[in-house]
Amino acid sequence: MTESPASPTPPGGSSTPPTDPDQRWHPVATTVDLVPRTVYRTSLLNRELVLWRADDGFVNVWENRCLHRGVRLSIGSNDGAELICRYHGWRYSNRSGGCTYVPAHPADSPARTIQNTTYPAVEHLGLIWTTGNPIDEMPPFAVPELEAMAGEILGLRNLPVAAPWQVVIAALAEHRFCPPGALDVDPAEAEMSANTDGLAVTLTSSVGDHRSSAVFVVQPLEPGRSVVRPVLGERPPDPIGVLRHHATALARFAKATEAREWATPTEQPVALENPVVLPSTSTATRRSALTEVTVAAKRLVANHIIALELSPVDGVALPTWQPGDHLDLHLPNGLIRQYSITNRPGWSDRYRIGVKREAASRGGSAFLHDSIAVGDVLTVSEPRSGFPLRRNVPQTLFIAGGIGITPLLSMAHALSSMRLAFTFHYFTADPADIAFVDDLDYFGDVVKQHLGLSPHETVAALREVLDRPEAGGQIYACGPPPMLDAIRSIAADAGWPDDAVRFEYFENTTQIDASSSFTVELARSATTLTVSAGQTILQVLREHDIPIVSSCEQGACGTCVATVIDGEPHHQDVYLSAEERAAGKLILTCVSRTLADRLVLDL
Ligand code: FES
Repeated sequence: MTESPASPTPPGGSSTPPTDPDQRWHPVATTVDLVPRTVYRTSLLNRELVLWRADDGFVNVWENRCLHRGVRLSIGSNDGAELICRYHGWRYSNRSGGCTYVPAHPADSPARTIQNTTYPAVEHLGLIWTTGNPIDEMPPFAVPELEAMAGEILGLRNLPVAAPWQVVIAALAEHRFCPPGALDVDPAEAEMSANTDGLAVTLTSSVGDHRSSAVFVVQPLEPGRSVVRPVLGERPPDPIGVLRHHATALARFAKATEAREWATPTEQPVALENPVVLPSTSTATRRSALTEVTVAAKRLVANHIIALELSPVDGVALPTWQPGDHLDLHLPNGLIRQYSITNRPGWSDRYRIGVKREAASRGGSAFLHDSIAVGDVLTVSEPRSGFPLRRNVPQTLFIAGGIGITPLLSMAHALSSMRLAFTFHYFTADPADIAFVDDLDYFGDVVKQHLGLSPHETVAALREVLDRPEAGGQIYACGPPPMLDAIRSIAADAGWPDDAVRFEYFENTTQIDASSSFTVELARSATTLTVSAGQTILQVLREHDIPIVSSCEQGACGTCVATVIDGEPHHQDVYLSAEERAAGKLILTCVSRTLADRLVLDL
């Protein structure tokens, strides 16, 4: 038996299968139906499904509906990592089903709530199985006989039948065929025994010494339409002759069954009106803000830089990430630290982050380097975006300095997978500092290395890189603050528009002006506090036990953000975008304040 990675393991056992068809496991395709980079459409219990296999082997079973306009996703395309709606190009991630890109809003990350309905998938006996409404305990497969057939089986031709599944099941109990070795005998002369189990019939045919068993599982498509998925419990030496015999017998069966008079069965399958809520053992995305992950891999990828791969605990799909996203890592020592996700598209079974040991570590990077081992469990936030990637520009320029490569990697991979043009400039002091070499090799000659340059030479190299602004081009830069400051001024001098240059800072080197004194009204707490010169809003909130999380406490990570209801913030962070600053609706409480008398916050 093989399973899609992270799929739940169906237990064996003999507990009674649920009688509700919607709680049973049903075959919905054969494994050969899921050809790489294709999309397969089927139905189950009056619900349309789309199936696609990602390049990592995972089988996705989703509701066949784009969350934009309800168009069938089965007419879309499978790029091996994402399923793309043909109508407006919305992209959905392998495993989680979360939307990763909306072309009409190229500068924004899609809302995390844009999440397709996913169903668990298990590959077994050459079939893809799923269930629409799993009960807490994963039920055993409905067909114990299939389990007994060990590895030697032969999948027969699938048979669509224009009849309700109840009628097909009843007709199958009377179906006749001959065993291999007696294929020239009239099936009417075969001795048949039948065992009906819910949505499957096991038939055994005996002719003289020859004996053969087959299981016919019925997939209820919709009222009045079914598919029979037969499996022979042996692999005969002449499979062609056996396949032909069964094809002929089943064609007769379909014709006779469809010609039957049948009253509408009282137990008609019905579609669920409400979205299916999958239990934690399914492939559904966990919705809570915090997720437990296991350290699945830890390796040194450059001088003082480790890569950590964080996999979900209990096989739960991880919340969908977008290129440029970062995570809050909640460390066992109580610290919260932010790290960029460096994933390639379709990596939805892990988050890969890069961590540089900081010389002046305050306990974050040093702890991860020295005290975290494979198998440890950590807690992470949902991915957050402060650095969304536009994918509708003619040319993208990535400029990374040192560990600043991390947020840019996932962005470059996203463009690479969409065959969009980019150049990747990477500044490091020494060849041993070059991190994620495999990824850079993968990008090929669009990567330009700048090694061992002095600050003066770095500025000269940046001038050369930014010399000719490209119409519609976009720059993403991440690295040490002096380098980013240089990029900001060189790009402005060269004529790059403000909104064409995006930065991600790891630290804030702004000289913070904490000389103002003002009051902060907390609307939800009905409290007014005074922030004196030299204090931060964050410190005053803490002193009064107002809960607010923080991390860098220097205006670089965005963790301590609060919503401004009234008043004009004096921004001193490097996290908020120019638009967010101008809107004045958010403030980073660890560094920013107001130059007026009063601020009203939504706390
Ligand atoms: Fe990082 Fe305030 S704690 S920006």
